[in-house]
Amino acid sequence: MKKKQSKWDMLDGVLMQIWKMLKRGVSHFNDPFHWPVLGTTGKRGISLRTVILRQFLLPERILVCHTDARADKVQEISNSDKVSWLFYHPKRKVQLRISGHATLHVDDQFADEQWAVTKITSRLNYCTTEPPGTPIDQPLSGLPDFLLRKVPTLLESEKSRKNFMVIACRFDSMDWLILRTLGNRRARFDWDQNGLNATWLTP
Ligand SMILES: Cc1cc2nc3c(=O)[nH]c(=O)nc-3n(C[C@H](O)[C@H](O)[C@H](O)COP(=O)(O)O)c2cc1C
Repeated sequence: MKKKQSKWDMLDGVLMQIWKMLKRGVSHFNDPFHWPVLGTTGKRGISLRTVILRQFLLPERILVCHTDARADKVQEISNSDKVSWLFYHPKRKVQLRISGHATLHVDDQFADEQWAVTKITSRLNYCTTEPPGTPIDQPLSGLPDFLLRKVPTLLESEKSRKNFMVIACRFDSMDWLILRTLGNRRARFDWDQNGLNATWLTP
């Protein structure tokens, strides 16, 4: 009898699952794909940090996160636009490694659109008086006095618009791995001017 094929037996089935997981990662705050790790190259070597996946655009293959324009990663991306993303889903045992090139958006329509849908509580992240990473002599939030123990009004939150930046990464390579008791599976998807090249890899 012929064995029934699963979605993990076909490369296009895998690709569809990846797109689904990334889309879910954007919309579900409790999904593990909502919290990927973004890697950049800094002065001290590779620099990694957790970010929130804010948008995933197809067919453009763009991943989006938000940041404070004064953060170190912004300088790092300005120096080298090559970035990597790491997603891990502990329940599904799926690891996804993505690499591509990032662009920074502060003062354009793309950033304006993202800012418009950014909740007031998230806008607080861009309200610190000093840039993120500035040494301080006490454990403090860095927020100005008028914002301590208070959520800003919409008008007050607009003051931090200047610190808000969008990082958009167009990716051209994905390495997917799933761990399964019946046999692990791994595949790579690369895009070039001729389109998609997909191949299975030894896990
Ligand atoms: C759960 C979680 C989510 C985070 N989300 C973001 C984010 O979306 N954007 C961001 O810039 N930093 C985010 N951070 C903070 C970063 O991990 C990092 O500490 C900060 O951006 C400074 O990094 P940098 O100095 O490399 O720029 C998050 C941290 C945690 C723990």
